[in-house]
Amino acid sequence: MGMSALLTAENLSFRYGGTPVLQDVTVRAEAGSMLAVTGPNGSGKSTLLHLLAGVERPSAGHVSRAPKTRVALLPQRTGDIDALPLTVTECVRIGRFTRRRLTRTDHTAVRLMMERLEIAHLARRRLRELSGGQRQRTLLAQTFLQEAEVYVLDEPTAALDAETRRRVHDLLIETVRDGAAIVVASHDNEESALASHSLRLGPGNGGSSTDSPVRRAFSR
Ligand SMILES: Nc1ncnc2c1ncn2[C@@H]1O[C@H](COP(=O)(O)OP(=O)(O)OP(=O)(O)O)[C@@H](O)[C@H]1O
Ligand SMILES: [Mg+2]
Repeated sequence: MGMSALLTAENLSFRYGGTPVLQDVTVRAEAGSMLAVTGPNGSGKSTLLHLLAGVERPSAGHVSRAPKTRVALLPQRTGDIDALPLTVTECVRIGRFTRRRLTRTDHTAVRLMMERLEIAHLARRRLRELSGGQRQRTLLAQTFLQEAEVYVLDEPTAALDAETRRRVHDLLIETVRDGAAIVVASHDNEESALASHSLRLGPGNGGSSTDSPVRRAFSR
């Protein structure tokens, strides 16, 4: 498969105060591949994803990106944004904001993604007026519109019904086919089975990167 690393994290350690959460974790996110990060509650999945996305800094080790690599993060907890008086459409459009104004192409992409994730009928609602799953769909739409090279997704389908979960899994597969890298934290075995590699974190982990027995979906 000869893939290039878009994001490399080497020998990462992280501690909250004195408490070690990650120790000596090494991962690579390669173009056209998906890495599943699994492990029980509290094992450090979200922490690792934050380090990869650069919103936290490791206590040891380092994270490097290939040139011009953009990273889109879908966080697990995003309660803070409910305080903003954003509508669903405004929140989704944020995925396309750069330094320029949105073009017709951007508006079309926003509309299609909102239809795909079935939030078009919620367009004018405020985020705080949504159900948990509707809110999650809105944030997923925003994330997948970012045209990033690396997508870091923290339990993207945890709040979703079965049909929507399937739609998101299709999006994951397409995104990888288009050549991006995905790192996804998940408790859903079906979801982690979509990945080409997996990393299981555990109590006192060093983390072990394994080739998943399941390699379907992503032979390019
Ligand atoms: N802000 C924080 N301050 C102190 N400790 C924290 C903080 N955030 C997380 N922790 C601790 O760090 C450890 C790892 O948390 P993390 O959120 O990375 O786990 P996780 O694997 O994502 O769990 P889950 O499956 O519940 O999402 C846990 O023991 C948690 O209690
Ligand atoms: Mg988590």
